Amino acid sequence: MKLAIVGAGYVGLTSAAVFSDLGHTVYAVMRNRAKMNKLQQGDLPIYEPGLEEVVRRNGAVGRLIPTLDYSEAVSESEVVFLCVGTPSLPSGEADLSQIDTAVAEVAKHLQSYTVIVNKSTVPIGTAERVRKIVKEINPSAQFDMASCPEFLREGTALKDTLEPDRVVIGTNSRRAQELLLAVHEKLPGERVLTDIKSAEMIKYASNAFLATKISFINEIANVCEQVGADIKDVAYGMGLDKRIGKYFLDAGLGWGGSCFPKDVRALHNIALTNDYDFKLLKAVIDVNNDQRYRAVTKVRQAVGGNLDGQEIAVLGLAFKPDTDDIRDSPAIQIIHLLLKEGARVRVYDPVAMENSRQKLSGVVFAPDATSALEGAMVVLLATEWGEFKDLDWQSLKQVVAAPRLIDGRNMLDPIKMRTLGWHYVGVGRP
Ligand SMILES: NC(=O)c1ccc[n+]([C@@H]2O[C@H](COP(=O)([O-])OP(=O)(O)OC[C@H]3O[C@@H](n4cnc5c(N)ncnc54)[C@H](O)[C@@H]3O)[C@@H](O)[C@H]2O)c1
Repeated sequence: MKLAIVGAGYVGLTSAAVFSDLGHTVYAVMRNRAKMNKLQQGDLPIYEPGLEEVVRRNGAVGRLIPTLDYSEAVSESEVVFLCVGTPSLPSGEADLSQIDTAVAEVAKHLQSYTVIVNKSTVPIGTAERVRKIVKEINPSAQFDMASCPEFLREGTALKDTLEPDRVVIGTNSRRAQELLLAVHEKLPGERVLTDIKSAEMIKYASNAFLATKISFINEIANVCEQVGADIKDVAYGMGLDKRIGKYFLDAGLGWGGSCFPKDVRALHNIALTNDYDFKLLKAVIDVNNDQRYRAVTKVRQAVGGNLDGQEIAVLGLAFKPDTDDIRDSPAIQIIHLLLKEGARVRVYDPVAMENSRQKLSGVVFAPDATSALEGAMVVLLATEWGEFKDLDWQSLKQVVAAPRLIDGRNMLDPIKMRTLGWHYVGVGRP
């Protein structure tokens, strides 16, 4: 089949790579010429492990076609997936301007029957909004709307897309449903066939639930700190219960990234605008914000109560390992708080340095972890990149000014670190 995917970010490019690898011909519709030229050479606009090879392989045989041209992409395709960004407005509401702009372009070029699919995470009712835009611009267009929300995780996007737990197909049209079943035919995972609004809600409810799970375990960790229990053992003991499950029970600096913060706020906002006060979600958001402040308090306490002029090293800037994405990254938010209190901050991240330069001023970007630690009074481990576990923490004691580590991700072994002579503070650990 021929497909068009509008937006070549984490979701769009991964979907384009996987669908083309499954044998479809996929137009990856972009808006930035420089990035499109690079992508044509196999040079990716994002960092995602393993993706480059799949993009190159399918680009080379002409199954994955990066383009700026909506006319060929849309008129040739049976299905158009919208994979553009839906960031937060200051109110918490989802900003649908990228959807609106993309749809306006798609609408102009619809020729034969096409299914338009929202793969972007969008508020309930957005498919209807898209339908109206298309009808206004192109009243004779033959099309159906659908919602196929995406559940991939950055860092493992390729695997998640190739092996989804489920494929949600929300549409009120039998014809669209059949086409979408055919598009996904070679992928495993249970098919959830539903109406559009329920599909839109499945995505928000899933992300809100996962964020709730993390905020919950962070609160348990905070109580563990008060009573002397160890959150690692507590989470392990809880997770063995199949009704609870072991995933998303890692206490730390709280959730961040391009999805959870905006999606939780958007769902809270959707509830409010529909006359429902979603109290639990408000608490989930508050707990998450507090978790950043708790980390700053630990750093402050480690230097005796005043951060002014103190050298602090921060390891990790990405919101999680194996991605260069720093959107709503806890590390970045904590660094801003440290700077506000007068700390002098040196930072290092294996891949998110370039993206961070635009967000962080007044910090020193160190070329590697060891340089970041030079002269530090406290080290804050903010992202659990594998390479930080493998650092020679014994020798690093000679590099820092004082061997104090705040392990914001509970990545290292407290007993081992203390044996090496580090003053170690984790999250919810004695
Ligand atoms: N990143 C994730 O882990 C993830 C997971 C599941 C769902 N989602 C959802 O998927 C959507 C996309 O997320 P993302 O992380 O891929 O975003 P992104 O910002 O990485 O990518 C969006 C891309 O769309 C492009 N774009 C915007 N308007 C365009 C237009 N008119 N024409 C062509 N290209 C256009 C942007 O330039 C950008 O490259 C969001 O709604 C997000 O919530 C993201």
